[in-house]
Amino acid sequence: MIPFKNLTKQMVIPKNIYFKLRPLILPVNEILSFIPKRANILDLGCGKGLLLENLKHYTSYTGVDLSTPELETNMTNINFIKGDCVNYINKELEDYDTFLLIDLLHHIKPNQQLIFVQKLLNRMKRNDILIIKDIYPKNILTKFWNAFHDLIISKQLIYYFDFNELFKTISNNSIIIDKFHKRIFLYDHFFLVIKRN
Ligand SMILES: C[S@@+](CC[C@H](N)C(=O)[O-])C[C@H]1O[C@@H](n2cnc3c(N)ncnc32)[C@H](O)[C@@H]1O
Repeated sequence: MIPFKNLTKQMVIPKNIYFKLRPLILPVNEILSFIPKRANILDLGCGKGLLLENLKHYTSYTGVDLSTPELETNMTNINFIKGDCVNYINKELEDYDTFLLIDLLHHIKPNQQLIFVQKLLNRMKRNDILIIKDIYPKNILTKFWNAFHDLIISKQLIYYFDFNELFKTISNNSIIIDKFHKRIFLYDHFFLVIKRN
């Protein structure tokens, strides 16, 4: 019998298997297509560093996550930091020009989500880019499936981010570069790319 404490633990999937499986449901190429060639990237909620694994052109990469990835690197332009993204964005952000929120928002408490994104946007410099990709179910089946997926994999209840609330508050210091929906199997992805002006 599986001990109860193991049922509540996050499922640990080896990195090489995760890197093969996750792109089957995550539109990695769409995300990469919005990242400028010489980007200084801050990947908030970077997970195991899947984006870095797929990046070809960039100047620097910093990933922040509650559970730091096991990544050995001697590269001075790559950093992984163990930390809470909600606090991390209060730090100095001058060195970054491209901010990624890839499937992070649904892990943040509902009463913090909008404030977190607004604060990040306010702290970004002119021409900086924010790329948000999150799960945004379009019907009851995909809503249930995604919640079930995270309950099994992350052992977490998820909180869907209300993009419409964000649209209402985007001020004239930001431009929406693109926004679109893409479904892969039962995963409803929503993309939002914003540039500070
Ligand atoms: C669904 S995974 C996405 C990982 C990665 N962005 C990717 O697409 O492969 C969500 C990640 O967010 C992290 N996370 C959740 N809440 C966080 C927080 N408040 N601060 C930092 N990381 C957080 C989790 O540890 C997890 O690695």
